[in-house]
Order: sequence, then C-alpha cells, then structure tokens
Amino acid sequence: MVEVSVMLKSFNALQYNPFKLMSNSFMQLSSKTERDYLNRAIKLAGRGSSEVFPNPRVGALYVKDGRILGEGYHHALGRDHAEVEAGKNIDLEGASLYVSLEPCSHHGRTPPCAEFVARRGVKKVVFAMADPIHGGGAEMLRSSGVEVVGPVFCRDSLAILEPFCKNVISRRTYLTLKWAMTLDGRIATESGDSRWVTSKDARAHSHSLRCEVDGIMVGAGTLLADKPDLGVRHGYCGPAPRPIIWDPKGKTAECQDWYKGKKERSPVVITFSDNASLKWSPHAQVLFLDDWSLLDEALFQEGFHHVLVEGGGGLHGALLDHQLGDRVMTYIAPKIIGGAASKGPVAGLGRELMSEAKEAQGVKLTTLGEDILMDGLLKIYHPEGQGVFS
Ligand SMILES: NC(=O)c1ccc[n+]([C@@H]2O[C@H](COP(=O)([O-])OP(=O)(O)OC[C@H]3O[C@@H](n4cnc5c(N)ncnc54)[C@H](OP(=O)(O)O)[C@@H]3O)[C@@H](O)[C@H]2O)c1
Repeated sequence: MVEVSVMLKSFNALQYNPFKLMSNSFMQLSSKTERDYLNRAIKLAGRGSSEVFPNPRVGALYVKDGRILGEGYHHALGRDHAEVEAGKNIDLEGASLYVSLEPCSHHGRTPPCAEFVARRGVKKVVFAMADPIHGGGAEMLRSSGVEVVGPVFCRDSLAILEPFCKNVISRRTYLTLKWAMTLDGRIATESGDSRWVTSKDARAHSHSLRCEVDGIMVGAGTLLADKPDLGVRHGYCGPAPRPIIWDPKGKTAECQDWYKGKKERSPVVITFSDNASLKWSPHAQVLFLDDWSLLDEALFQEGFHHVLVEGGGGLHGALLDHQLGDRVMTYIAPKIIGGAASKGPVAGLGRELMSEAKEAQGVKLTTLGEDILMDGLLKIYHPEGQGVFS
C-alpha cells in the first residue's frame, strides 16, 4: 500500500514533496528521525478501534539512544491509555516519548498520563495534537522538568482525532461518507448492479474502516438493491458497527428477513414516516426525524460517535445538500461503464456553479492494487486545524 499526502489545491503528482506539504510546525522537530517516530505514533493510533469510544484513538512510543523501547495504543475504553500501554514493564528513565495526542492531565477512568510520564523519569515528550478539551498536560510535564515539544501538527494526526473533536466540541456524531466508483464516476450500472466496483485490496481496506466506527449507514435504495451484510470481513475481526438505515418513506419494512438477520446488532431505522415504528417492530429501533439538520445530533444522542455512510447516491446527496458530512473517502477503480442513467455517488439537488462546489481539504491519496483511495476532510473541528489547509 502506497500513501501520498497532498493538498487538493496544490496537487501535482510529479512534483510531490511530502515534507513541503506538512505544516511548518512539523518541521520544528530537529530531525527526520524524530518525524518518523511521531509518524509511527500516529500510525499506532490508527490501530485503535471503535472500542475506545468515547475516548480518542491515540498511539505512543518510547525511544532511548536511537532504540524504540516500547510502543502501544489505546485499545478500549477503561483500558490503559497509549502512554501507559507503551511503557509497560520498561525502564523509561531518560527516554523520549512520541505520542499522537497531548498526554492528559485529568483524573478520569485512569490517572493523568502526564503524571505517569513525569514520574517514570521520561526526559522529553513530543506530541502531535493539543488536547481539544482538557489541555494542561504539556504544562504539567514542563513544571515537572520534562522537555516538551508540541503541538506538532500534521494531517494524519488531525484526521484521526477529528471524530473525537466533533463529539466533544459539538456533541454530534462524526459522519464519514464512503463510496466506490468507476473512472467515469459511477457507483452502479443502470440496472443497479454494483458488485464489485473495486478490487479485493480496496474492498479489504474499506472493511478496516468499519472497525473504526460504531455505526454504518445506508439508504433504503441500497438496502432494497443489495441487502448488504454491513459486517466486518476480509480478514478484519474488529467490533462490527451497528446498522443504520435511512428510509424516509418506510420502504424497507418489507425486508423483514434482513432486519431479523441483523438483530444481534440491533439496527436503527431513521424515517420521516410517523406511524413507522409499527412497520419494523420488533426487529429494529425506529428514530423519527423531521429536520435533516438534526441528524448528527440525534445520532449522538443515540450513542453513535462515528458513522460510516456507505451510500447510495440518494443518501449522500441529501446529506451534502443539508451541509452534513465531515470526511469523504472515495475508492476509484480503473473501469468505465458509461450509461446516462448509471448511478453516481452523489445525487440530491447539487450545485449550480462549479465555483459553489464543496471542496475537500488535506486530501491524501493511497494506491490499493489497481485502485486509488482519495480521502479528504470536508470540515475541521480541532481549533488548531482551522485554516491549516487553506
Ligand atoms: N459503489 C458503491 O459504493 C455503492 C454504495 C452503496 C450503494 N450503491 C448502489 O447505489 C444504488 C442505490 O442508490 P440510491 O440512490 O438509489 O439509493 P440510496 O441512496 O441507498 O437511498 C436513497 C434513500 O434516500 C432517500 N432520499 C433521496 N433523496 C432525498 C432527499 N432529498 N431527502 C430525503 N430523502 C431522500 C430516498 O427516498 P425515497 O424512498 O423517497 O426514494 C431513499 O429512501 C444501488 O444500486 C446500490 O447498489 C453503490
């Protein structure tokens, strides 16, 4: 898998220079080795699954004399934070810590990590993102005589932390829109066939995303056309997200067998139809919504932190028309199907002028076999992330 970070506006594959595209603060690290250590901590953070919610996904490693002493990440709510997990049974005296998020300073389910780090004799801490709510960890460390470098902003640390930032700052669920399309921008043929647009590598990657979310949402059209499993497969065995069906008119009530088959994950149906609960009972929980703009707030109240929206075009279009959607992940396959009536990834009302187009920021390209993943942020919640890509 090859990863390439770019900003969409300045993308030129031949002139690509990853360091030029990182923010200046990443350059405040004295050497490329230090940047590599911090990147490693961010990668470790990415191993965390939805089991950490409502906590953030965080990774850390300790280094001394050019040797990695230990590394780890936060595995699940109530378990050790990354700094503690990485430092288990290791002599940390004189070591440096590289961590994707500022060590915490507060007593929650576990004691403050800043206290743990200082007590164990760590001499230097380098962190990527400042804690967007509590803060104070860097100060606590400095006052204990630890050298602190941070925040050291970079695109991937921001992207990993954004769902947590939206949750704590806006009390709303983070929405990642994901689709797989052909070179000519189609997600299904005219007949509705969409299996499969992308190769095995890309499909496997998309299943890794399902471990990172606690909800997976599709529209009624997709449920009727595909009866998707919405589980975690392709070698991943993380926690399966809870299915959410967007069905304003109650068209999927006829899919009783599908709902019955998902009952251990207790599907949620979101609808405009007011006598709806009778239709799905007892196989799904029904959420009645009369205002689109409240969707992410309603999902948060239902306990969802991060929802992966997997189409189809009707659902994506309705969300984007209502300014909903925080991140977009598009898998692009080198195939062409054509056909004026073949389905596209985003329907809805759309925009009249190109100048009104919604633009993703901090876009990252990853090649997966023959396919490409284009991953960009539509909104930024971390106070430090604002304006970084503009
Ligand atoms: N390649 C991929 O990544 C991918 C992923 C998913 C799906 N697909 C394909 O996409 C196709 C299904 O897409 P689709 O667009 O037909 O269905 P969809 O997006 O799955 O479902 C659309 C739902 O949203 C509702 N809706 C549409 N516009 C709305 C608006 N402005 N306000 C409120 N609700 C609105 C529709 O209502 P009504 O009930 O009134 O129509 C319908 O219930 C299938 O062929 C599937 O195979 C491909």
